[in-house]
Amino acid sequence: MKNIVVLVSGSGSNLQAIIDACATKHINGNIVAVISNKPDVYALKRAKNSHIPTHVINHKDYLSREAFDQVVAKQIDVYQPDLIVLAGYMRILTPEFVKHYAGKMLNIHPSLLPKYPGLHTHKRAIEAGDQEHGTTVHFVTEELDGGPIILQAKVPIFADDTEQDVIDRVLVQEHQIYPLVIKWFCDNRLSMQQGKAYLDNKEIPLSGYGED
Ligand code: GAR
Repeated sequence: MKNIVVLVSGSGSNLQAIIDACATKHINGNIVAVISNKPDVYALKRAKNSHIPTHVINHKDYLSREAFDQVVAKQIDVYQPDLIVLAGYMRILTPEFVKHYAGKMLNIHPSLLPKYPGLHTHKRAIEAGDQEHGTTVHFVTEELDGGPIILQAKVPIFADDTEQDVIDRVLVQEHQIYPLVIKWFCDNRLSMQQGKAYLDNKEIPLSGYGED
């Protein structure tokens, strides 16, 4: 059984999907703590509802990104987790923080990376006239939204879609693929070696796992 710490900044619908997958034993893991950089976010309520310890470390209380990340790392390390899951965690990470958790930190990003790293991905896809959008689970490296891709899911963009329509459609997919990737990790099937992602000791293609 792997111990997982989840970092959040918002509503926590991905956190909920992971909590549910642990509860049904789909994921062979245990969420030992949820840490938020924002007070009063709904993700914290979700964690408390499931009796998971929560911590708020408000980035506004720190003068530098380095100082903030050091405190977050210290709190994470109290739990000695096997895996750190970023679930809507809206912070740019310092290189030291990333290095400290190399190979054991996952992120989900709402775009078909390498397209649209950064913010407002759904709006940017709509404005570009894209007919599809999606989401990517990847290992975290020092490059923002640039680590090796593990799994992607695509959704269509329809002509009359609002930004919220696309956000909601992407979230439905995120709630499927993030627990699946975490399950792989907890079953010792997934790893990062020399900056590449491997599933069952086979290198995952650059655009993520796809069944032949
Ligand atoms: C998700 O769509 C996730 O992909 C995105 O924030 C949302 C969080 O929703 N993450 C990022 O943009 C990270 N760069 P949630 O709080 O309901 O899980």
